[in-house]
Amino acid sequence: MAIYLDNAATSFPKPECVYRAIDHYMRTIGTNAGRGGYRRALAADQMVFETRLRLAQLFNIGDVSRIIFTTNATEAINLAIKGYVRTNDHIIASGLEHNACWRVLRTLEAAGTISLSVLPHRMDGTVDMARVADLFTSQTRLVVMSHVSNVTGGILPLQDIANLCRSRSVPLLVDSAQSAGLLPLDVEALGIALLAFTGHKGLLGPQGTGGLYMSDGMDLRPLKEGGTGSESLLEFQPESLPDRYEAGTPNVPGIIGLGAALEYIQNTGLDSIHAHKRSLTDYTHRQLLRVPGITVYGPQGSNERIGVVSFTMETASPEEVAARLDADYEIMVRAGLHCAPRAHRTIGTIQTGTVRVGLGHFTTEDDIDQLTKALMELAQN
Ligand code: ALA
Repeated sequence: MAIYLDNAATSFPKPECVYRAIDHYMRTIGTNAGRGGYRRALAADQMVFETRLRLAQLFNIGDVSRIIFTTNATEAINLAIKGYVRTNDHIIASGLEHNACWRVLRTLEAAGTISLSVLPHRMDGTVDMARVADLFTSQTRLVVMSHVSNVTGGILPLQDIANLCRSRSVPLLVDSAQSAGLLPLDVEALGIALLAFTGHKGLLGPQGTGGLYMSDGMDLRPLKEGGTGSESLLEFQPESLPDRYEAGTPNVPGIIGLGAALEYIQNTGLDSIHAHKRSLTDYTHRQLLRVPGITVYGPQGSNERIGVVSFTMETASPEEVAARLDADYEIMVRAGLHCAPRAHRTIGTIQTGTVRVGLGHFTTEDDIDQLTKALMELAQN
């Protein structure tokens, strides 16, 4: 049977309740949300609201209207950065950023709008915290970091960076694309100003869902203007949240599917999901290290990584390994730079990229045993 190990790109399969919720909405409700006043439209409104509420519970957000739905984490990051920066701002970013963040920042830097500094990393991707404080200047207006690297699975020191940001009164933008639904994330306790998330990875919802949480006091310029179903007489975007940032018909089926996924996560328990993913990540590391000629990247400590394991082999390029795994063993992994060239520069794999194993909620140790066996055979041939 085929083995899907590309859950860092998108999780598959989804919990059965996600398929059922979308099917039910599409067949029996089907109305737009936030626009109509008839009962069936209000039912869709209610379901969208419930997803917002579940997200607020998951991330400990007090005011649900500060959760803005977007189509993915990339849109959320674009809204956060472009909606916030002013000319001459200095921004600090991690050296493990995905292009979702990195291209936005580099484009603003190339345009002369911002200056950019990168956190000091060791070769395993961990942050040298002793050297971080020196990066702050009087112009620093934002710190941007992934919670978990999509290349190494390394968990970045969120608490330490958040404390530093708080002491300097600099807002922190966190990209939780690889951590939401795997690791606990309490935005209030951490003092996170902006949290970008995607719905289709660890949150187990469908593609086309995601969002941005903005804390009280963060006032962003909208990325787009348009209909919101509210204050239609106004010729400009309304000030009210979340409408100010949610122009256009939302992805109602996707948001409802995400709501079902969040209910599944709540019922299963984030702690138990986290424990399973952590032990599976450890198991994968241990098993892969048995393969001759393999190099596994990222931090080695079991509490320093989650969900993703990246490696290269002496005998074949990452693309060849991934192609052989697919063709000969029906094992699906991603090879290359994983849209994160900055991360590969940091860990020294920019020339080759890596093979990436993206572990999912439904991945088993048996799947990893089969992957290991396949890699052993590839290493011998
Ligand atoms: N950002 C996704 C990945 O890491 C698509 O593969």
